[in-house]
Amino acid sequence: MNSSMKEHWNEIYAALDVDELTWYEESPEPSIRLLSKCHINKDESILDIGAGASTFIDYLIDQGFSNIIAADISEIALNKLKERLGVEKASLVKWIVDDITQPIHIQNLRDIVVWHDTAVLHFLLEEKQQRMYSTILKKVMRKGGYVIIAAFSLEGATRCSGLSVERYDQNILARFLGKDFSLLEYFNYTHYMPSGEPRPYIYTLFQKN
Ligand SMILES: C[S@@+](CC[C@H](N)C(=O)[O-])C[C@H]1O[C@@H](n2cnc3c(N)ncnc32)[C@H](O)[C@@H]1O
Repeated sequence: MNSSMKEHWNEIYAALDVDELTWYEESPEPSIRLLSKCHINKDESILDIGAGASTFIDYLIDQGFSNIIAADISEIALNKLKERLGVEKASLVKWIVDDITQPIHIQNLRDIVVWHDTAVLHFLLEEKQQRMYSTILKKVMRKGGYVIIAAFSLEGATRCSGLSVERYDQNILARFLGKDFSLLEYFNYTHYMPSGEPRPYIYTLFQKN
């Protein structure tokens, strides 16, 4: 576990209410749009990597998905999400505090049918961190499974939450995932932060061949 990164994210989540976070979405519409293309059963596993306190988890529970895994480096983020959900709904989720760049628990997962990442990969700047992310993704995903990745686009911000970010488009992400993944769909999406400022993203959907 990268303890300075863990501290960094814990401090951010401790300092702000969830709806003050620059990436907060009242409803995760672009993720919902891509998930609707996945045609999966409600009991198939969905891993939200770097879930933070995302409303995507609320959506999945409300839609009746029963095999949801929320993983994040920040236990404060996941605790805030648990609190919002309440005990009953939170008990429907498998919670994992782990670092995708130095994983202990995530690498033991198998048969993941949807890998969902909004605004996490773009914080991994070192090649070895990116390599670990893609190694774990390939290891835990089921054949035929889907990968949703949303990252800052090439027109997007160069920094977020006090950290530098790497920017992406669909071609860079396709190269990153490699030949075993087919790009099914992508679109540009502008997220508006609580301040009203725009944050351009690229949203992508891949399928493991
Ligand atoms: C910008 S936030 C996005 C949160 C969530 N995906 C959403 O869209 O609301 C980035 C998230 O990635 C998590 N994170 C950052 N680095 C991570 C790592 N190495 N492993 C796991 N989670 C990480 C942070 O704690 C934070 O919750």
